[in-house]
Amino acid sequence: SPPAIIAPSILSADFASLGGACSKTINDGADWLHVDIMDGHFVPNMTFGAPVVTKIRSHVERPSAPGGRGTFDCHMMIAEPKKWVKDFKKAGCDLYCFHYEAAINSTAAENPADHTDEKTSPKALIKYIHDQGLQAGIALKPQTSVDVLWDILANENKAEVPDMVLIMTVNPGFGGQKFMASELPKVKALREKYPDLNIEVDGGLAEGTIDQAAVAGANVIVAGSAVFGAKDPSEVIAKLREAVDS
Ligand code: DX5
Ligand code: ZN
Repeated sequence: SPPAIIAPSILSADFASLGGACSKTINDGADWLHVDIMDGHFVPNMTFGAPVVTKIRSHVERPSAPGGRGTFDCHMMIAEPKKWVKDFKKAGCDLYCFHYEAAINSTAAENPADHTDEKTSPKALIKYIHDQGLQAGIALKPQTSVDVLWDILANENKAEVPDMVLIMTVNPGFGGQKFMASELPKVKALREKYPDLNIEVDGGLAEGTIDQAAVAGANVIVAGSAVFGAKDPSEVIAKLREAVDS
């Protein structure tokens, strides 16, 4: 697997002092910040949108290269992923990770005449995200088979291939849920075919669950409650990293 990337989910941070929490987390050793965007439609919860991302961006230095320290990994749990790409780019998002399930059900195009399979497919959305100068990620809910990804990953046209795959290890919507080990075979199958792919896991990752995720082949580790609920977040970040890199 590629080196560990630890991406604390700021969903579990103190929203009343989010800027400080973000800069502290990077100083505590985090590589990326995982920014959970929920719209109350795709998931039964709401968080915040681009205006808040703009504000917290000023507290965290931009990455010097794509995927570098300080990357804002925006996990878009929203029903209309195409609609918000430009706003999030402007707000300072670096990696725009949309849900496969949202993309295929989305009306996607602002212009109804553009609403064709070709233009609303996941690969078209990935290209659109890349065209805006962002890295692209594609996320799968627990109920979605990993098989939907094979065609997308095998594409010869790199502009249409995601930079990261996110395998959810809880049903998206809330922090602090129980880790679903049932999702790890997806990670293993992806890692067997794609040794260099960034494979992210999100939900229930902590000291007790990280080893099985690492063995399966995950290298991008999201952790919300485990990091922000800890007395010493830097220690938890270091332990997660060690489990992946050892
Ligand atoms: C859940 C979010 C996660 C969440 C993880 O819908 O996508 O990023 O913050 O929280 P923990 O690590 O507490 O399970
Ligand atoms: Zn998330």
